[in-house]
Amino acid sequence: MMLDRLSHQAPDALLALIRLYAADPREDKIDLGVGVYRTEEGATPVFAAIKAAEQRLVDTQDSKSYLGPEGDMGFVNALMPYLFGSDPTMGGRISGMQTPGGTGAVRLALALAQKARVKRVHMGVPSWPNHAQILADLGMELAPFNHANADGTANLDGVLAAINGAGADEAVLLHACCHNPSGIDYTADQWDALAEAFAASGTFPIIDSAYQGLGHGMEEDAAGMRTLLAKVPEAFIAYSCDKNFGQYRDRVGAFYVMAKEPGGLDTAFSNANALARAAWSMPPDHGGAAVRIILRDPDMTKLWLAELDTMRARMRSVRDALATAGRAGRIDLTPLGRQNGLFAMLPVSKEEVATLREEHGIYMAASGRINIAGLTNANLPKFIAALAAVAV
Ligand SMILES: Cc1ncc(COP(=O)(O)O)c(C=O)c1O
Repeated sequence: MMLDRLSHQAPDALLALIRLYAADPREDKIDLGVGVYRTEEGATPVFAAIKAAEQRLVDTQDSKSYLGPEGDMGFVNALMPYLFGSDPTMGGRISGMQTPGGTGAVRLALALAQKARVKRVHMGVPSWPNHAQILADLGMELAPFNHANADGTANLDGVLAAINGAGADEAVLLHACCHNPSGIDYTADQWDALAEAFAASGTFPIIDSAYQGLGHGMEEDAAGMRTLLAKVPEAFIAYSCDKNFGQYRDRVGAFYVMAKEPGGLDTAFSNANALARAAWSMPPDHGGAAVRIILRDPDMTKLWLAELDTMRARMRSVRDALATAGRAGRIDLTPLGRQNGLFAMLPVSKEEVATLREEHGIYMAASGRINIAGLTNANLPKFIAALAAVAV
């Protein structure tokens, strides 16, 4: 039979963890697995700004007729000042299109790079697992280097070697901010060095920005990317609104191209549109339309930014508390205070992850990645005590 020719694929490990967590009857269990923001009460609520925008959308939308493969260009353009600053098209050299989430944007960026004869992509590891999966699915090669040093700083030499050594059929993929899974971002000086290396080598940069605003602020989290874009002739940028607008399941993303000259965008997007048509035809509309409504309304924008500030402040306070605790067993927690975003990597073995789950009801990815937002004032003492008991 035809279906017998398929081999079984491993399920998503985090989804299996969700099921285990749900089945655990312990009242004081802690979920540090899935990568979504949580409040102090453990909820992942819809932003009030999104609710208001969705209501306006319901009240005013008069058609759900097709848009083109580029989606809602009002949404795509309204985001651009947040990504690219006061000259958001950089003199007409940047344009974009809507995608199904940041995943769709990364997929499109890599597929378009492949169409432009890129065969190998250098990337710091560990990274978001979908990066490697998409590259494998496209038949592109992944050239990994270590993203982080043991002391919790970014491995600058590793990324510079990748940029300087890449050939014309290679690209380098960077996270714009709030690196997943390490939380370790490049400093401003390091971004300067990266920008110089990209400019001198001519290596093509692909930037994945999935957490803008969750690190230090919307402007602050874009600064490194802008430093780089100011120095290079061309780049791809994949963007997600699923974290910073809390739109996870509504799949809100965008893909941007920076070309050497404004005239270069037309051919690039004719190819990107063709790839999008062949993959998803056009992106889902609802979430992007809600973001457009927010960004065109100053009061809604203020409300959204205030909600984002609250999220970021909570994650900062958890990081500060971990850093203040200093140590849990052999693990130095102080670098977590300097890192950014939703995630951190704990240097724990698979066996220790299993012990934390089985004996203490603490759920995290087998890699040791934790979701910072799964920690609260209430469960932090238990978490630190359990870690100290296990990671001796
Ligand atoms: C680094 C990175 N890029 C892209 C994405 C894609 O996000 P989404 O497809 O949910 O918008 C994620 C989501 O976890 C991510 O961590």
